[in-house]
Amino acid sequence: MNHAAIAIDGPSGAGKSTLAKRLAKELGFLYLDTGAIYRTVGLHALRQGVDPGDEAAVLALLPGLTVTTGYGPDGLQHMYRNGEDVTEAIREHQVSDAASKVSAIPGVRAYLLEMQRRAARESDVVMDGRDIGTVVLPQAQVKIFLTAQPEARARRRYDELLARGQQADYEQVLRDVIDRDWRDTHREVAPLKQAEDAILVDTTQLSLEESWQRLYEVVKERLSQ
Ligand code: DC
Repeated sequence: MNHAAIAIDGPSGAGKSTLAKRLAKELGFLYLDTGAIYRTVGLHALRQGVDPGDEAAVLALLPGLTVTTGYGPDGLQHMYRNGEDVTEAIREHQVSDAASKVSAIPGVRAYLLEMQRRAARESDVVMDGRDIGTVVLPQAQVKIFLTAQPEARARRRYDELLARGQQADYEQVLRDVIDRDWRDTHREVAPLKQAEDAILVDTTQLSLEESWQRLYEVVKERLSQ
């Protein structure tokens, strides 16, 4: 049986994971956050004392790494690194940077491709990432490119850090957003870019609730075609 697939790509901080998760719940589809998979590889490199930007060293780690995804009783996606639950650890700041670096290595992307495609063969999925509509699931029924201006994304991230009681400097957060965008869009393999048949949803001027309404409208319309 063929399963339905919805691909949601875009830069970090556009609201992808929050909206994709809600969409999956609403539709009764499986949600796969593919950034979490790259984060798990990035974390593994850090824990093994390997520079995430050192291609040969990272590739040498892959045979000793098993990345798995599971769903807790809460329905949330958990990530496992060689069986250890690293769901929380992969959200640390230095892991974002490590994930971005390992994700630029072609061998890492090739290694993770099949596990992402398998999820789409086994269930109806909402998958979010950078190259889902272009590389992982080019046949997806619905493709969304969810984005927002860097300043809006940095502001959301900054507010989130403050709300968590963490120290933050808006200018630094904005620089990080711009650096990560640059790396994600300029890498040679599977760079972040809008698929030709993807629908652009720009959330710069929208609240989270407005973004959700817009996304849901677009998806419902596409699924009914
Ligand atoms: O979405 P995120 O911030 O958790 O992703 C972490 C890193 O992984 C990000 O720098 C880009 C990379 N990534 C990717 O290259 N391809 C994907 N499909 C998902 C994430």
